[in-house]
Amino acid sequence: MCGIVGAIGERNITDVLIEGLRRLEYRGYDSAGLAVVHGGAIERERQPGKVQALADATHASGVSGQIGIAHTRWATHGAPTQDNAHPHQSGDIAVVHNGIIENYEALREQLQAEGYVFTSQTDTEVVPHLIQSELKKGGDFMAAVRRAVAQLHGAFALGIVRATEPQRLLAVRQGSPLVVGLGIGENFISSDQLALLPVTNRFIYLEEGDFIELKRDQVTIWDASGAVIARPSVELDATVHASSKGTYKHYMLKEIYEQPAAIQRTLAGRVSNGQVAIDAFGPQAAELLSKAKHVQILACGTSYHAGYVAKYWFEAIAGVSCHVEVASEFRYRTTVLPADTLLVTISQSGETADTLAALREVKSRALGSLCICNVPTSTLVRESDLAFITHAGPEIGVASTKAFTTQLVALMLLVLATGRRQGNLTAERERDIVAQLAGLPTLCDEVLAMDQAIERIAAEFGDKHHTLFLGRGAQYPVAMEGALKLKEISYIHAEAYPAGELKHGPLALVDQDMPVVAVAPKNDLIDKLKSNLQEVRARAGVLYVFADHAADVRAEPGIKVFSMPSVADEVAPILYTIPLQLLSYHVAVIKGTDVDQPRNLAKSVTVE
Ligand code: G6P
Repeated sequence: MCGIVGAIGERNITDVLIEGLRRLEYRGYDSAGLAVVHGGAIERERQPGKVQALADATHASGVSGQIGIAHTRWATHGAPTQDNAHPHQSGDIAVVHNGIIENYEALREQLQAEGYVFTSQTDTEVVPHLIQSELKKGGDFMAAVRRAVAQLHGAFALGIVRATEPQRLLAVRQGSPLVVGLGIGENFISSDQLALLPVTNRFIYLEEGDFIELKRDQVTIWDASGAVIARPSVELDATVHASSKGTYKHYMLKEIYEQPAAIQRTLAGRVSNGQVAIDAFGPQAAELLSKAKHVQILACGTSYHAGYVAKYWFEAIAGVSCHVEVASEFRYRTTVLPADTLLVTISQSGETADTLAALREVKSRALGSLCICNVPTSTLVRESDLAFITHAGPEIGVASTKAFTTQLVALMLLVLATGRRQGNLTAERERDIVAQLAGLPTLCDEVLAMDQAIERIAAEFGDKHHTLFLGRGAQYPVAMEGALKLKEISYIHAEAYPAGELKHGPLALVDQDMPVVAVAPKNDLIDKLKSNLQEVRARAGVLYVFADHAADVRAEPGIKVFSMPSVADEVAPILYTIPLQLLSYHVAVIKGTDVDQPRNLAKSVTVE
């Protein structure tokens, strides 16, 4: 999704801007641009495609300056062309924007009537023209920006420079992420602190409605009421956040392999003597978990699948009813929350627009809100009553892997804590499941050792157009996640079904050209699942089954079986996710797609 970097200093800041954009590449984008102030004028470079194209063009043209803004654009309004790339300009004003201006059409007509000429199809271009129009009415630069912003509807973050005022860079945070990076004699803004790690480890996390003025040696912030406000700065341990591919070919593969260590980090300090430390969810957690009569989970994408697994766990292990829904649906329908509902949001980034909006919409009607998140400084963490940080470490691949399995571990801890506080879980069962969780890293290593076997069969998917993923019970969302991974990175259409639903439609699609992948650990439903697999085989469907020894699924022509380690039923969804990640990864590599930055997708979806 769109990314913003801005810098003001004494040195030429173009390299800072470009390096910042490179570090935002993982978010997903399709064009990039920058604008600097030089000799009293705005100089711009914009290129469709990769940041490298922008870097080449910038170095060729020699654009340089001591103040500038830069942007990676993920197209919403208008194709990813040079004209639509940010920054957008109106006379001496240049603007980068993340988010959506919902009333841009009306503003565009109004500004066209005033004589402003538009050169792009973007919603963003109204912003520099509007600021220009306000400047003509008088007052200073910041006053004009304020009046312009007051006319914008939607969620956005803005970075703004003015050629005639090279001593200050203005910014606004209103619904889209933005942080300030503090340097020595230079200051920065970005939509993600990762972009600024080469230049600083000191950050100010902004609040919604903040207006910011960056000077070389001074940062001033006004809150939504217009009052100057001192927001605290936070110093990060930069090494914790360093992220490189190391010897791996892709971030996604590295992150798949990091899962044993990531799960260990999620558990560290959160369990002791066979019990979950309830305080790990925050000081009021014990009280909230005792009072909750219902759990409503809200999330998007992969995080939604984690929530879907947890729904099975909450009801089976904690004895508490649970609903799960994608946030983009929940936020816009009329909802009735049962009394004493605990709201649980799940998000890797903590910045997903729909998840945040759903939280804001429903929070006041809930008993309390708890988020499970990988980014401690994120908006979701700040706006939730309680937060549990997964400690998965930075996830760069757009397709989520270690964030998902660590979310599942966190959710199981929450389920255990809830079960205990509700009096529905014996100490013995809790101890048992805690031990299963502690054993997961070793089992994950065993599954990772299946990598080559999975790679060998990946070629059989390379020329296919459709696949079906099957699971039952808590393995159904695992199948959903497997299907999502395959479509995200290999562009092969994949659908997941609870295997019991096969004969209500999808069986009509099954033939030798549609591989069917099944997750089949030994559990109460294994015999039922095996009957479903026979239904597939009887229609010449080719099966790829991940099963443990006890499940006793026999390999035969048309049925390939991958032998999984035995694992307790409760935590099996966590383990069975991993071979499906490896399968998607290898299919994508065979297809030659951009594994870490698949087309049209973004890591952090900060617009709805
Ligand atoms: C995007 C990402 C997915 C992610 C989803 C939700 O679609 O590509 O990997 O699952 O957003 O993101 P969140 O940060 O809220 O987990």
